[in-house]
Amino acid sequence: MLCGGLSLRDFMHKLHKVLRPTGPVVSMELLFGREKHVTDLELALYATGRHAFIYGDRGVGKTSLAQTVAFKLQEENDPILVGCEKESTFSSVMNDIILRGIPQDKKIDTQGWSVGLNVAGIGGISAGKNQKINNTEINIESVSAAVRALQFLTTAHSKVPYIVIDEFDQIESDLERQKFGSLIKQLGDQACEVKLIFTGIGDSLVTLIGGHKSSERQIHQVHLDSLPLNGRFQIIDNAFNEFGLIVEESVRYKIAGLSDGFPNYIHLICEKILLTCQSSTKEFNSIDYSLFIKGLNDAIDSVSETLRQSYTDATEGRDESYKHIIWAMSDMADLTRHKTHISESYVKICKSLDVVPLDKSTFERKFSALKKPAFGCIIIPALGNRPAWFRFRENMLRGYIRMRAEQHGLELDFQNYRVAGEHSARAIGKYAAYKPLTNIEGRVAKLRGDDDWLDDLKKELRK
Ligand SMILES: Nc1ncnc2c1ncn2[C@@H]1O[C@H](COP(=O)(O)OP(=O)(O)OP(=O)(O)O)[C@@H](O)[C@H]1O
Ligand SMILES: [Mg+2]
Repeated sequence: MLCGGLSLRDFMHKLHKVLRPTGPVVSMELLFGREKHVTDLELALYATGRHAFIYGDRGVGKTSLAQTVAFKLQEENDPILVGCEKESTFSSVMNDIILRGIPQDKKIDTQGWSVGLNVAGIGGISAGKNQKINNTEINIESVSAAVRALQFLTTAHSKVPYIVIDEFDQIESDLERQKFGSLIKQLGDQACEVKLIFTGIGDSLVTLIGGHKSSERQIHQVHLDSLPLNGRFQIIDNAFNEFGLIVEESVRYKIAGLSDGFPNYIHLICEKILLTCQSSTKEFNSIDYSLFIKGLNDAIDSVSETLRQSYTDATEGRDESYKHIIWAMSDMADLTRHKTHISESYVKICKSLDVVPLDKSTFERKFSALKKPAFGCIIIPALGNRPAWFRFRENMLRGYIRMRAEQHGLELDFQNYRVAGEHSARAIGKYAAYKPLTNIEGRVAKLRGDDDWLDDLKKELRK
């Protein structure tokens, strides 16, 4: 029971005010740990002709950041939000934008709109006076028609329309994506005041820019990493404060650590703990470990099917040692892990579970099996030509696996890096400058005996 016995309706209302486990956050009050990104985006988008691209792992909070910024900056109206699918084309996305940009909920003075749309050169309106426009009546095929149509929105929608183009990476055709690069270039040349905010995985940015190299400087790029600790704590505190509950410090740390910085996991665990409290006959003032574990079990059950499936493929109906190896993989803060360090974690885990570790060659064989499709390819090589480095197929998997390990009473180390400067290894990617170890990190690595890592790095630098 909560707050002296809230009705289910009041409880759900309160819960929804502070937690959004199933959708993006759209307001500054609920967007935590991203203050710097919001300020940077705000400053960047202030310039005419500049747009933004937010990229990062699945579930890290791209849509939330994009929509919150759009709602914050949009004046006179609501921002225009569109999503992309596999089959989306430049034309379909543009049609969608224009349709959403026109306030369709109102009866429309079709004369005014038809004049506007005809001037924009994107087709006529067949609807009669005071009828709504529907999507068959707009057809934007070329980049120049899109520029005219967006220009039109600056009078019809608002002076500066903010447009979020979500999941840009979903668009399969490179050719279609490239047209957005040309669009950005042309919008800049014509000083059109619309602001486009794209979200997607990193790879799609290359093809976006590939369309027009010079559009690169017109795109403010934001790489979203997992949520920093302060943001994680803020979500937790904000949620439980709403119900007048205090969270034990150790539980707070557990939720923050297990989530691995994927805010959805925090929302889920907090939601399930609160539901457990609400459905109990007891009155609660604070959240202890036993409530946390109940909430965690429920949260694990409601994690998305695709993430659960990978873990099931790798472990169900198999020897327990596969679980131990996967848990070992999610130990320590390093996302990219060296085989030697994984086996160290494995031995540590076996010790704490009081089981006999596998011998070296069996460990190697089972570890290799986890890379195979029959095991959901749960582990993949991390650094191309450097064979001893591995990571999870998807970073979001690690949080889920940490939760599963915790469910079995296993305490993993979430905080410490096994490799000094792991963030450097993580940054080896297409969009981040390669950062070798600093002198101090190098010295720490040497002290820890990570010479193989240093040697690898030196080789890499010589290339
Ligand atoms: N900064 C934040 N503060 C609080 N909650 C957040 C924050 N960012 C995201 N969330 C929450 O995390 C979850 C995932 O967020 P979001 O949908 O924005 O991620 P995404 O990166 O767009 O995911 P996907 O790649 O699946 O589209 C949502 O439940 C959202 O409410
Ligand atoms: Mg999203």
